Amino acid sequence: MSDKKWLLVVLVLSGVFLFLFARFAVDAQAIKGLVRHLHGEEESGKRPFHVILIEQQQDHPYWKMVEQGALDAAKLYGMSLEYHGPIRNSMEDQIELLDKAIAAKVDGIIVQGLNDNKFTPVINKAVDLGIPVLTVDTDSPTSKRLTYVGTDNFEAGKRLGHKVVQATGASATIGVIIGSDTAESQLLRLEGLKSVVERFPDMQIVVVGVSDISRMEAIVQAEMMLRDYPQINTMVGTSALDAVGILQARENLGRNDVAIFGFDDMTDTMQSISKGDIVATLVQNPYLMGYDSVRLLNDYYMGRELPKEHFTKIEVIDRDNVQTGVKTP
Ligand code: BGC
Repeated sequence: MSDKKWLLVVLVLSGVFLFLFARFAVDAQAIKGLVRHLHGEEESGKRPFHVILIEQQQDHPYWKMVEQGALDAAKLYGMSLEYHGPIRNSMEDQIELLDKAIAAKVDGIIVQGLNDNKFTPVINKAVDLGIPVLTVDTDSPTSKRLTYVGTDNFEAGKRLGHKVVQATGASATIGVIIGSDTAESQLLRLEGLKSVVERFPDMQIVVVGVSDISRMEAIVQAEMMLRDYPQINTMVGTSALDAVGILQARENLGRNDVAIFGFDDMTDTMQSISKGDIVATLVQNPYLMGYDSVRLLNDYYMGRELPKEHFTKIEVIDRDNVQTGVKTP
């Protein structure tokens, strides 16, 4: 045979080989999913996958929406879903809950991630033991979690920043309250906000406080800020109850000149926007975060590959679109 013919034969054989290899890889994934599923059923006779959702705080209106989304999806995919969270925001309690879920050998963990040296190894321990972990709402980016489901938080901070610029005419002395200094989401929102504000010479952030995602603490922090920095004329809260806390502080101190911006669409926040007491809020989609986390976990059980990040929708709501904006259940 001539060299050309040999080359052709080699090319055709390589093509066939690549095709067979790709088919094998796809079938292997499907079989893996099936085996995992059958294994689950075999262990205790037809039991559904047991999944745990670990929240930042139990009985919190924001996390109730995440729960609802996760429950609806779990029902659809025939999984058994449990949810737990600390009574008050506490990283130690979240770690304890993670450890308990690992000890219970659950089939999957969906957890609000924290960016801390003590937190990441516990996620990694679960993954190393074969338990898939997804982070929801807040990422633990250096951990071995399969995927993160939630807001693109840097982008969210930027979007709210642009709204602050527009509403204040690019002139503002700003106090910020963040929900937590161990949650990456809150730090990214702050960074996003800063990245916009620092482009304008007449805008500056003079102080940043932490509310521990509590409305009461947001009131305390905001009052302290407004007393210590009376020149503040704009306040931004980056977790769900901060804006309403700031509003209460503003009323307590009779500082109606302070413009308030917040996060999320809690009922009180939306009513205050309608009345013109809060200027705008960055609305996330916690229901979908819960729903999509369970849906992606189901994809994993089916042997499908997961994206590294799955961002849910965000939108800025002010008085002009408060009726028509995204409404999470
Ligand atoms: C954040 C959550 C936080 C919640 C509670 C939301 O904006 O995304 O991480 O738990 O606020 O205040």
